[in-house]
Amino acid sequence: MKSSLLTSNKLSPSTKYDIMIKKCDICLMKYNKLDPVAAHRHKEFHDVQTKGLKWAVSNYLKNSKFALKPLNSSLKNSRGTRDIFQMLSGSQHHQPLTPENSQRSTNFNPQEDSACGEYIIEIQKENVQEVKLALRLLDFVNEELTAPKDENDFWISGNGKCFVFIKDGRAVGVITLEDLVSTHYTMKWMILSTKEIVEHVNPRFLAGVSRIWVSKQYRRNGIALKLLETARRSFCFGVELKPLQIAWSQPSESGSKTAKKFNSVLHKSGELLIPVYF
Ligand SMILES: CC(C)(COP(=O)(O)OP(=O)(O)OC[C@H]1O[C@@H](n2cnc3c(N)ncnc32)[C@H](O)[C@@H]1OP(=O)(O)O)[C@@H](O)C(=O)NCCC(=O)NCCS
Ligand SMILES: [Zn+2]
Repeated sequence: MKSSLLTSNKLSPSTKYDIMIKKCDICLMKYNKLDPVAAHRHKEFHDVQTKGLKWAVSNYLKNSKFALKPLNSSLKNSRGTRDIFQMLSGSQHHQPLTPENSQRSTNFNPQEDSACGEYIIEIQKENVQEVKLALRLLDFVNEELTAPKDENDFWISGNGKCFVFIKDGRAVGVITLEDLVSTHYTMKWMILSTKEIVEHVNPRFLAGVSRIWVSKQYRRNGIALKLLETARRSFCFGVELKPLQIAWSQPSESGSKTAKKFNSVLHKSGELLIPVYF
């Protein structure tokens, strides 16, 4: 038995460690596989990392007091995902958010739209259950990014917004954006290739991406770009932000690649720059 093996004095400490500690090849979590609590924690983390967090949409449907507020329906349709993105990013199919069509949210028929299985919601801070789920999702995100956990809830107090991408009953993507207008953050351009900061220029950006995350199984399907587009159009009621008014906070490797596509700018030196804040 493994436990008796572990107490054996014949084993070196590193062999004992190897027997106990497993690193999952998929979610990369290291855990003590002999500890049931750790194994359970891994299962939970692994599930969210790969497939997203179960989002109890059906409960909301049964209980009408939890109204879902869809911002965009990026539906699987015969036109394919490229067109879906065009729909969100300004083709003829796109309708800018206006009081009239944002009003549609109250007429939204969750049953009908959720049949398509894919949509983005803005978390409503008065919806306690939704807020709780979003915070739980952000805890998993922080765990993957090894980011501080105390930066999760600024959007609840009205200094930003949180949008969640739901697919087939799971939250598979999330973005939190903070309002930078009345903050004292330092805002700069960052050279994408070297990660160096351009020192002597002091741009001002309006909103900052605090967190953005997509579950592993759905990466490279344009979900992050859809979240960014939705946030850009809906962050400020009645005003669409321009991509270059949105900055990144300590972009990760994949975050930098997304930023390159979403809002990089070519400097005359030939370098690509992205907006950052810290
Ligand atoms: C960053 C992240 C949110 C991107 O999500 P995503 O849904 O896969 O991104 P998209 O599919 O919308 O990518 C849009 C474009 O960004 C670029 N891109 C994004 N991730 C990339 C990667 N890993 N490698 C190369 N290019 C990438 C590509 O140009 C891509 O377009 P393409 O697929 O047509 O080539 C996701 O990788 C993630 O959750 N990473 C872990 C958390 C994290 O690091 N968050 C960023 C913190 S700043
Ligand atoms: Zn795992």
